[in-house]
Amino acid sequence: MRPPAEKILILDFGSQYTQLIARVTRELGAYCEIHPCDISPQAAAEFAPSGIILSGGPDSALAEDAPQIPEFALSSGAPALGVCYGMQALAAQLGGTLRQSPRREYGPATIVRAADSVLLDAAFAGERELPVWMSHGDEIVKAPPGFEVLAASDGVPAAMAHWERKIFGLQFHPEVSHTRNGREILSRFLRDICGMRCEWTAPNFIEAAVEDIRARVGGEKVLLALSGGVDSAVAAALLHRAVGGNLICVLVDNGLLRMGEAAQVREVFSERFGMELTVADAAERFFAALKGAEEPEEKRRRIGRVFIEVFEEQAAAAGAEAQWLAQGTIYPDVVESAKAASGKAAAIKTHHNVGGLPERLKLKLIEPLRELFKDEVRRLGTLLGLPDSLLHRHPFPGPGLAVRIPGEVTPERAEIARRADAVFMEELRASGCDAAVAQAFAVLLPVRSVGVMGDFRTYENAVCLRAVTTTDFMTADWARLPDDVLARAASRIVNEVAGVNRVLYDITSKPPATVEWE
Ligand code: XMP
Repeated sequence: MRPPAEKILILDFGSQYTQLIARVTRELGAYCEIHPCDISPQAAAEFAPSGIILSGGPDSALAEDAPQIPEFALSSGAPALGVCYGMQALAAQLGGTLRQSPRREYGPATIVRAADSVLLDAAFAGERELPVWMSHGDEIVKAPPGFEVLAASDGVPAAMAHWERKIFGLQFHPEVSHTRNGREILSRFLRDICGMRCEWTAPNFIEAAVEDIRARVGGEKVLLALSGGVDSAVAAALLHRAVGGNLICVLVDNGLLRMGEAAQVREVFSERFGMELTVADAAERFFAALKGAEEPEEKRRRIGRVFIEVFEEQAAAAGAEAQWLAQGTIYPDVVESAKAASGKAAAIKTHHNVGGLPERLKLKLIEPLRELFKDEVRRLGTLLGLPDSLLHRHPFPGPGLAVRIPGEVTPERAEIARRADAVFMEELRASGCDAAVAQAFAVLLPVRSVGVMGDFRTYENAVCLRAVTTTDFMTADWARLPDDVLARAASRIVNEVAGVNRVLYDITSKPPATVEWE
């Protein structure tokens, strides 16, 4: 989509908080995009930002090969705000004095007001001190010439401003919730310093996106693979609003979906929205392809391959004349893919379910949610009339139950995993605990153990329940579910799901474990 007229460019120096800066900026009503810190000056000029934020990063601004702030960011006329590494790089490049801090500062700290400023006054709210979140190893001993020190921490500059050049620096992280009134600081930067109206909202997005999709697609047909997940569902609802009957949705039922998932998709999209939806019942083909596969990445590869084959056939049958392929790619996918492509991130597992589909089908690609974060996607879904039960479903991996069945996947094992999962989810919902966990599911272990049921010995499967709390899925903690909820789920699973005689609960965090077992 064409970005709106007012927007912020976030230059990424590699901080774990960069996406958080972007999310908070959006929540404050300002559209923004993250780009690598070495973005070309032409691309930056084309983007035409109203303001620039220089993120934090893991490097030391004192290092010889430290990433540099590009010249345009300091001379384009758009205000610039350096956060953490961003501020240190400003100091290093503009003639300030830096040194390695005698004590590394990670976590809560206090800054003291040194001057009045439109940037910080609202955050200080008349107080002399402000609790903030720091995370840095270097410190600025002397601000560069022309900069006024706005606040200090233990006697060294913690915030600075060059009023004429509109360049600002914050040593702490205004985007994290531990910095008191941190959002107020970002809001003052956006509104008072960059002069933005901060009118970026989901309804505005819908209007602009619909117009944009219509302009691009015209009267041509669009194909979309619905998965039952939030992203593809919202993409479908948005595209349907834009192109109506020219959207053709295909749901590939791979036999590895959650209980009732295909039926729910059919009910919402076919019946409620009146969309053209084809459900391809391809379970047998997926199970045939998975025969003998035990290794997690091999299972993912086979599922991805069969998916492409089935989708291709359905596409040919349902939308022979389609010109476009729509995907529910969202902003974190775009940022993560860019990171992975840069080779800087280690490959833990392949999360890209159907990579290669656009090239294979030779269709033009349209990704209407490419600029949005998950919470924005959910808000959009609500405005487009999608039910909460679909928008707030826990995330579900593309390879489905296959990555929750370590070892070989068979139809019988998939059914056990699906039924155990359904019971666990029912109990979570009944207890009201489902809102407090980010994701929960059952894993069917490749282990059998001895049990006793009535007067008989059993030798059956073990199921492990997993529930995690997290906001970003990069790190996660195991959910401290009440004993009685776990007890009820365990008791119902062994009683109601044939083939299971033992239930366990996974109490590992991520890291070192991952959320899924494969
Ligand atoms: P991990 O297991 O990597 O999971 O800690 C983090 C989040 O990603 C989901 N996940 C996937 N999603 N395709 C997907 O679309 C995949 O192959 C895949 N593997 C994991 C997982 O459910 C969790 O929400």
